[in-house]
Amino acid sequence: MLKGIINYSHYLMQEAVNQGDTIIDATCGNGHDTVFLSKIAGQEGHVFGFDIQDQAIAHTNELLAQNGSTNTTLIKDSHSNLLHHIPVDRLTRLGGAIFNLGFLPGSDKSIITQSETTILAIESMLLHLKQNGIIVLVVYHGHEGGDQEREELMRYVRQLNQYHYQVLFYGFVNQKNDPPFILAITKHE
Ligand SMILES: C[S@@+](CC[C@H](N)C(=O)[O-])C[C@H]1O[C@@H](n2cnc3c(N)ncnc32)[C@H](O)[C@@H]1O
Repeated sequence: MLKGIINYSHYLMQEAVNQGDTIIDATCGNGHDTVFLSKIAGQEGHVFGFDIQDQAIAHTNELLAQNGSTNTTLIKDSHSNLLHHIPVDRLTRLGGAIFNLGFLPGSDKSIITQSETTILAIESMLLHLKQNGIIVLVVYHGHEGGDQEREELMRYVRQLNQYHYQVLFYGFVNQKNDPPFILAITKHE
């Protein structure tokens, strides 16, 4: 009945994004989201994937090649620098973005997303996001440093102007061990 966190994050992206849109995968990791986004962007659309680790870019490249993706650009840089990498004509078609916060599974657990750069990236995205576009954040927060990012992110999304943005919280409140939850920001008139 109730969708799990990853399923629901994909469902939200699929509902909001149209074929031909630009989509950002802010944290490629092993590339699972990037492949999914490449499918929903369609041939006219484009996915820009960011990660700061070589290993993540390599894994994602491999997975995209296996899936025959031709509408994706991977960038080894922080998502907070996205405005330096995405051409303006693509930015004007920004339909959605997704973040999976935390560390790369099976890798160095000390390399984690940080609230400061996460929020900078969200701010840059909100400037260009289309009406009814979406930013989905899958918030993993059980690791060291995760609680700080969670708290700063919650503070940030709570102060977004309700006349311009809706912010959804989706999570399972009776699960043990700091389960991940979703924050989704949509933009409207
Ligand atoms: C939880 S993993 C992402 C999982 C991925 N979505 C998947 O499907 O496998 C988080 C990723 O964020 C990356 N990361 C951390 N800080 C970043 C930043 N400032 N900009 C871009 N990526 C970052 C890490 O290197 C890591 O690969």
